Amino acid sequence: AQQAAHESVWDGPPGSLPKAIAGCTRCPLHKTATQAVPGEGPLDARLMIVGEQPGDQEDLIGRPFVGPAGQLFDSIAADAGLDRGKVFITNAVKHFKFTPRGRKRIHQRPNQGEVAHCKWWLDAELREVAPDLVVAMGATAAAALTGSGKAISARRGRIETGEAGIPVLITWHPSYLLRLRDDTQRMAATQELACDLRMALEYKG
Ligand code: URA
Repeated sequence: AQQAAHESVWDGPPGSLPKAIAGCTRCPLHKTATQAVPGEGPLDARLMIVGEQPGDQEDLIGRPFVGPAGQLFDSIAADAGLDRGKVFITNAVKHFKFTPRGRKRIHQRPNQGEVAHCKWWLDAELREVAPDLVVAMGATAAAALTGSGKAISARRGRIETGEAGIPVLITWHPSYLLRLRDDTQRMAATQELACDLRMALEYKG
């Protein structure tokens, strides 16, 4: 059954969050996705990275950022000196939203209601990890974390105050870089994402 987005907070025992997320039926996306994809990484990470939602590969494998966007993220993160194993990486929405086209599954952006329902889990991950800084990659993560849907182009590279006072650094989503057709634009945006990740690494609360 679908539950309301505004119930109190998740309060399961420590370490049980991924399993709870796996059983989520808070919105209809669980019906078509293969599985939920919870965040992963050390629970004492100082940095949390948030994307939009699992893609096709993530949905099949059950881990965040392992498909093309994840591979690009990994290489830019490595350039920036960020060790993926030391950060907690997750998504604003835990199930893959898509429309079937032939044998392909085409990514659909989650709507505000889906993001609001799934915020329950993002909030639970935020409470469990309690990072010093959260990096919001792309508009969906930025909206989920700050409540503002303003364009990323006007915000990136800056730290905003998220709910509960958590600092949120806004940056590009790696899928955005993959969609840019113009080489010069893509190179510039790649540098900007690397620069933002470096800033995140150097962040001292
Ligand atoms: N895009 C996302 O936002 N998250 C993933 O896990 C993969 C692609």
